[in-house]
Amino acid sequence: MAILAIDQGTTGTTCVLYNEKAEVLGKAYRELRQIYPCEGWVEHDPEEIWQSVVLCVRELLERCPVTIAALGITNQRETTIVWERASGRPVYHAIVWQCRRTTELCRRFEQEKGMIAEKTGLPLDAYFSATKIRWILDTCSHLSPDALLFGTVDSWLVWKLTGGGVHATDFTNASRTMLYNIREKRWDGELLDLFGIPGSMLPEVRPSMDDFGRVSALDELAGVPVLAVAGDQQAALFGQCCFEPGSIKNTYGTGCFMVMNTGDACIRSHNGLLTTLAIDAGGRPCYALEGSVFIGGAVVQWLRDELQLMKHASESEAMARAAGSNGGVYLVPAFVGLGAPHWQMEARGTIVGLTRGTNKNHIVRAALESIAFESYDVFRAMVADSGISPDALAVDGGAADNGFLMQFQADLLGIPVLKAANIESTSLGAAFLCGLRAGIWKSDGELRMVNRHAQACYPSMEPETRDALLCGWQKALRQTLVR
Ligand code: G3P
Repeated sequence: MAILAIDQGTTGTTCVLYNEKAEVLGKAYRELRQIYPCEGWVEHDPEEIWQSVVLCVRELLERCPVTIAALGITNQRETTIVWERASGRPVYHAIVWQCRRTTELCRRFEQEKGMIAEKTGLPLDAYFSATKIRWILDTCSHLSPDALLFGTVDSWLVWKLTGGGVHATDFTNASRTMLYNIREKRWDGELLDLFGIPGSMLPEVRPSMDDFGRVSALDELAGVPVLAVAGDQQAALFGQCCFEPGSIKNTYGTGCFMVMNTGDACIRSHNGLLTTLAIDAGGRPCYALEGSVFIGGAVVQWLRDELQLMKHASESEAMARAAGSNGGVYLVPAFVGLGAPHWQMEARGTIVGLTRGTNKNHIVRAALESIAFESYDVFRAMVADSGISPDALAVDGGAADNGFLMQFQADLLGIPVLKAANIESTSLGAAFLCGLRAGIWKSDGELRMVNRHAQACYPSMEPETRDALLCGWQKALRQTLVR
């Protein structure tokens, strides 16, 4: 008996089979084509998203022919899909969360940004779904909005899996649309009017652990119940067992996403963070503060693919160590603007401090250090907003395997960095939610036994060295920010 977790992320789709001990039985991955129609625009093909799930599931079940008790979905959030209610055909490509095409459109709502932040916990930014939906409706103005449905990737997959039977989402994904009132926990009429989006397009919002229907559109999974849906960062928080207020995790993926559980406290950030909905141990909504850094591990991909400084991302650790120090080089990876805590859509990347002695190892080291500096800035903002000083940071995601980066992170933060036994906390979180709902696990206590921390890095840097590094980073950042 197994649980299937479908993790539909920005760069690709991963399907993972877990057993009752939450051990990985098998995994399949399909990369997703990134479509860049013009500068700053990012799209995915919704049919390709669906096919990536189908192909992963088939490959996985061929290799591991087990009985699946239930499945859970976790997904890239905010990415916006609009499709025809009758035919199920998408009317446009999925507009990806990173896409900046609605930057200009956002300015139209400048006057209402206080009201938007108060209700949704979000700053007015092209990152979220509302302006992306508006853009699609404007672009497809020949279609009647009443005949259309909107969904983030989770809704799209639930709709596809159930053969169009269920149009639903969960509250974590809804909280990223900029249309959902996180205090009253409902779609907000005033916001729908503001953005000109008919309520009839929106999915029903359900708890993350719920009955989302049974699979009918994929023979290999026919009849399997969909019992969990959660946005990927909230799923990772759950997978890391961050159930208490004040517990905090950072996921080092394409971007870096730091999330702190704040329990019943809906804290309005004064330091550039988002307030969002997360999931408590019982599957109910709780509040969280989140800092989304747009470029994290992606900076290493850039070093590999665009600068060709290495063949494999895993070489970055040895190169950074070989440099001995950053040699005064600082890299600010503002390739798509800066997210939390700066929110500067127009900022672009910078490298400062180059000398004749600078070599590629210094650049690689500066790039890895930048990931930790960005996360440090978000962490400080979180402490300031919450008044809580966490005594450890739980980490996961691909780059959590980079020992240099994790040690540097612990040195900057001055607290231990604890790496999860399973660094794919996102899929594990979806499996946990699904397994709890299916009765495979009975309590959060059982989950804590499963995902212990496998490794810890303790801070060991001299305070003067740390202060000098932070000072260098701040200087580089100032040169990047648009005044
Ligand atoms: O908010 C965007 C986030 O959910 C995307 O995560 O891991 O797919 O880059 P990821």
